[in-house]
Amino acid sequence: MHNTTSAGWDRSAAAWVRELGEDGDFGRVHVLDRPMLQRIRGRGFATALDVGCGEGRFCRMMQSLGITTVGIDPTELLIARARALDPRGDYRIARAEDLDVAPGSFDLVVSYLSLIDIPDLATASARMASALRPGGTLLIANLTSFNTAAMPDGWTTGADGVRRFAIDRYLEERAIWVEWRGIRVENRHRPLSTYMTTLLDLGLQLRHFAEPAPTGGDPATVDRYRRAPWFHIMEWQKPLRPGDRPHR
Ligand SMILES: C[S@@+](CC[C@H](N)C(=O)[O-])C[C@H]1O[C@@H](n2cnc3c(N)ncnc32)[C@H](O)[C@@H]1O
Repeated sequence: MHNTTSAGWDRSAAAWVRELGEDGDFGRVHVLDRPMLQRIRGRGFATALDVGCGEGRFCRMMQSLGITTVGIDPTELLIARARALDPRGDYRIARAEDLDVAPGSFDLVVSYLSLIDIPDLATASARMASALRPGGTLLIANLTSFNTAAMPDGWTTGADGVRRFAIDRYLEERAIWVEWRGIRVENRHRPLSTYMTTLLDLGLQLRHFAEPAPTGGDPATVDRYRRAPWFHIMEWQKPLRPGDRPHR
């Protein structure tokens, strides 16, 4: 049995809400939101499960596309905030590893920058795949493994005075405490092959892969996001079984 809290998130929840502000932080507003919504809009998804929904921002965005959402997250303060911002929304306190929803009940399962926070990737991925209906879509935005391999130092200045993004011990899976603007949480570095083989072994099929570039925003931040590896988006499909009817 897992405990229900997540490393660092309970203490970091208030700072996280501040960091996101009304619209979201740089990575969300200027890099990920647009391509994530492009993968969703007009696809006929009626129901979505947002795993690690935080304070519910992406659930609210999907609802504005007419999708009925369920958001789950183990951090009670973030779920309380989600409920306050969206009193009619369905937000539940749960870890991905303990996800308890009817098998096959969602058209779309989303993990928006939450896989690196989830300790047991294999169990969480199996639960997410089970929640999808056959033909359904698992949409993931994650910090790329080339980024998490640079944690916790990231940018460092060499003896020549040049700033570089220092990747190290790439193949070594590990938990790393990271800190920024009052947030202190435990993330996980895993090589990309860990994510890929976990999802492939569940029988999911990769349909889309992107490393989105920033669009707009402060030029110095844009430069940093262009120089270093940052995010990727992956879309996986749960195969139809013989006799299943394709959805739209
Ligand atoms: C970086 S935040 C992203 C939140 C939200 N998806 C967003 O984009 O604003 C990561 C989230 O993962 C949640 N989390 C941590 N451990 C988790 C677990 N085992 N299962 C599901 N979510 C978890 C945290 O509580 C936190 O809300």
